[in-house]
Amino acid sequence: MLLCLGEILRPERLTAIVAALNKARFIEGKATAGWLAAGVKNNQQSRDGGLAPLAAEIEAALSAHPVFALAARPRRLHPIVFARYTPGMAYGPHVDDALMGEPPLRTDLALTLFLSAPESYTGGELTIDHPGGEQSYKLSAGAGVLYPATSLHHVTPVTEGVRLVAVTWVQSLIRDPGRREILFDLDTARRTLFARDGKSREVDLMSKSLANLLRLWAEP
Ligand code: NI
Repeated sequence: MLLCLGEILRPERLTAIVAALNKARFIEGKATAGWLAAGVKNNQQSRDGGLAPLAAEIEAALSAHPVFALAARPRRLHPIVFARYTPGMAYGPHVDDALMGEPPLRTDLALTLFLSAPESYTGGELTIDHPGGEQSYKLSAGAGVLYPATSLHHVTPVTEGVRLVAVTWVQSLIRDPGRREILFDLDTARRTLFARDGKSREVDLMSKSLANLLRLWAEP
């Protein structure tokens, strides 16, 4: 399941984050790529200590995003990485490492949060392989794509302007994507029914099923 999440960050916070990134120090992105991805990774990234409060702010905004919480069921979140693509930069086809950091975080889901306005740069589309083909994403600033980290994906070359993104990975309480989707659908249906008709026996039974499926499947 792949989802686009709107308004993870409010416009005024986005402006402040972009201003801080414009002053931050970036290094070659290759430094953190595995041997195979290093051959196709041509971007810059920063985990400049000065950006730590902004990274923490984004992590908090994500954790508070209702759709993110239901779709990802996060157990752990990788610290935010800020990436920059200037003209000529791209990230060729690759799959993200399955395990990152220490203790290792299993990357079940990846998230790209777009920080630059789409009209401010040319190219720089996040393109994700699906069984049926490829799908490209270039969302408005403040919106993000949450997608299975199991997919091959790439970022098309930026030819003009600057593409700033924040990326992170999620280890989910629910490892299996099919199970995560069942929980997402059931929870969404339960909340919709409750919002429409209030508390009912049906809502209670759906809540019971949801809780019992979590007991069966969650890896806390
Ligand atoms: Ni990637």
